[in-house]
Amino acid sequence: MDWNEIREKARENMKGYCRGCKRCDGIACAGEVPGMGGTGTGNGFIENVKALDRWKVKLKTLHDVLKPDITTSLFGFQVKMPVLAAPMTGLKGNAGGYLSEREYDMMVAEACKNVGTIFMSGDANDKDMYPAGIDAIKSTGVLGIPFSKPRTVEEIIEKAKIAKEAGAVAFGVDVDGAGLIMMIKSGQFVGPKSRKEIEMIVENIELPLILKGIMTAEEAMIAAEAGVKAIVVSNHGGRVLDHTMGTADVLPDITKAVGDKIDVLVDGGVRTGIDVLKMLSLGAKAVLIGRPIMIAAHGGGREAIEFYLNKVADELYQAMILTGCKDLKNVPEVYKAS
Ligand SMILES: Cc1cc2nc3c(=O)[nH]c(=O)nc-3n(C[C@H](O)[C@H](O)[C@H](O)COP(=O)(O)O)c2cc1C
Repeated sequence: MDWNEIREKARENMKGYCRGCKRCDGIACAGEVPGMGGTGTGNGFIENVKALDRWKVKLKTLHDVLKPDITTSLFGFQVKMPVLAAPMTGLKGNAGGYLSEREYDMMVAEACKNVGTIFMSGDANDKDMYPAGIDAIKSTGVLGIPFSKPRTVEEIIEKAKIAKEAGAVAFGVDVDGAGLIMMIKSGQFVGPKSRKEIEMIVENIELPLILKGIMTAEEAMIAAEAGVKAIVVSNHGGRVLDHTMGTADVLPDITKAVGDKIDVLVDGGVRTGIDVLKMLSLGAKAVLIGRPIMIAAHGGGREAIEFYLNKVADELYQAMILTGCKDLKNVPEVYKAS
């Protein structure tokens, strides 16, 4: 299998919804939401990629790191790589409908299980989207984390119960979906959450809670103090608000503020193993990848997703040798290009 062939095939199967670009950087698809782009000018997505580009690593080869360890532990489970599949929904409106929601979730869950990492599933206005992820977790037995939209507290608690029954290892809410107009227009409540509401959710669910879509140190601290187990530093791939900062630019302040009170995960523009190493150097415990997994699914199904995740893992392994990094507790410093 070859990534260029996978991209080409994905471009065909996604019928113009994705160009399958050599570098998935948000430029060709700017403004295409629904679609695969970032909202408005597309700047939030483009900035994620640019922010990562600004950080640089130092090449080091006079050391004894021969076989770096890329495994880590998340939510009490050992994973083979610090790279997770991000929740992705809206296959018809965003990707052309070549794959159904259920087909997509199932192939990503199986691939994650086979490579030994965590599968995340999403939620949206179509009421079958959340159950599709739940069923994929249940039937594959993957380490799975379903995400609910920021619905009412009661609805979120109900969704967490379903996640627990399905055997999920944690449960998340993508709080950055608070202004999603397609939810509001379809008569479904989404909205911001107060500290008190987050505390109520934490108290009434039996799984560790993750908040996805945190972009400031202040909100990261609110999450930590409310009893949240982990946050995902994310601007939703630039899809919810135009002109946000890139996640690699806000990550250092956030990880510095929360210290080891909670686990910090991050996503946005992560494409290669060196991108993963940079995010870990900026304080993240693991990364999520969105669009390239969607592209792989359309360009070759489960095998292509496995191919892509293993490719990123190999690149990370190689980057660790070349920066003298023996394991993920000893990541190298990164430097901002002037
Ligand atoms: C087509 C598409 C659908 C998405 N659906 C969801 C979703 O249902 N729930 C969610 O939390 N995030 C969703 N996201 C955001 C991703 O989980 C993730 O935050 C983002 O794609 C990461 O950036 P990347 O695609 O550059 O890797 C979606 C993103 C895209 C592009």
